[in-house]
Amino acid sequence: MCAKKVTQKPGDVPTTGHVWDGIEEYDNPMPRWWLWTLYACIVWAIGYTIAYPAWPMISRATPGLLGASTRADVAKEIASFDEANSAIKARLVEADLAAIPNDPELSSFAQNAGAAVFRTNCVQCHGSGANGFAGKGYPSLIDDDWLWGGDMEAIHTTITHGIRNTTDPDARYSAMPRFGADELLDRDQIAQVVEHVLQLSGQPFDAALATQGEVVFAENCVACHGEAAQGDPTQGAPNLSDAIWLYGGSREAITQTVTYARFGVMPNWNTRLTEDEIRAVALYVHSRGGGE
Ligand code: HEC
Ligand code: HEC
Repeated sequence: MCAKKVTQKPGDVPTTGHVWDGIEEYDNPMPRWWLWTLYACIVWAIGYTIAYPAWPMISRATPGLLGASTRADVAKEIASFDEANSAIKARLVEADLAAIPNDPELSSFAQNAGAAVFRTNCVQCHGSGANGFAGKGYPSLIDDDWLWGGDMEAIHTTITHGIRNTTDPDARYSAMPRFGADELLDRDQIAQVVEHVLQLSGQPFDAALATQGEVVFAENCVACHGEAAQGDPTQGAPNLSDAIWLYGGSREAITQTVTYARFGVMPNWNTRLTEDEIRAVALYVHSRGGGE
């Protein structure tokens, strides 16, 4: 180290005193512009953390003197939308249910609002696809086949109070008897009536059994499903003469239904949705299902 003695001439930039193989390190000051930029950044940063939410505390960050909050901005925006829609929502709530589909302004608003309600609350059970396929026990809402009626009044009541739930005393209610499990019919009679239902719904059937089954059906089933098995919306009894099945139309599925019965439950929505939301989604369902 320090092989050669280095001499400093007057007027030279001072060195730091570090020398390596004759190479010295100058002690130049930082450029002014650089220093001032650094100071400006520090001042700005302090100012920013005072004015805006910045330092994390135990439950939330320091709020900042300006009270800026993106969350509050969103809430304000939502409130302003609500405000803008409040007149039409009020009109929707007051309108005669049956008249809503014929009012272009109301129905187009309800159509959009209802679609949003449906996507959030209904698709998990009723499905969203173009075919409305939802799964066993969950009726498609886009066909024109209704268990409990498909006019605006009926759909509105179904959504408001639900079906066979225990949370709303006004829920729609009916219960098909458990013909097999409760020994109301024996195995042979069940086999017969099942063949008759297959016949009614236009499927291959055993003619001899079906003829006997017609008698069983007349005595045990028409009270709910109707003379022609066309169903009864006042009791939520499905039409058995079409090809639309809630629980399946195979010989096995029908035997299962007649033996153990079914008990489809839908929640009531009057405690979760507002009246304008219920009306909007009722219109949406009505319009998609070719409502009655
Ligand atoms: C937890 C599952 C579930 C959810 C969520 C649900 N439903 Fe249902 N819904 C059912 C079941 C099950 C039935 C059939 C009950 C029966 O067997 O009668 C039904 C029946 C209906 C019916 C009667 C259909 C007919 O043919 O008469 C309508 C209308 C309906 N739901 C609308 C809605 C709307 C609108 C929503 C969303 C706000 C919704 N449902 C959410 C389970 C559900
Ligand atoms: C007290 C009324 C009542 C009687 C009596 C009754 N049913 Fe039902 N049935 C219903 C109801 C209500 C449903 C729908 C249950 C549900 O949605 O959970 C139903 C559903 C069915 C289904 C299922 C349809 C589908 O789409 O999957 C079949 C099949 C059926 N019944 C056949 C019969 C037969 C056969 C008899 C006579 C032996 C009979 N029912 C007697 C009320 C009745």
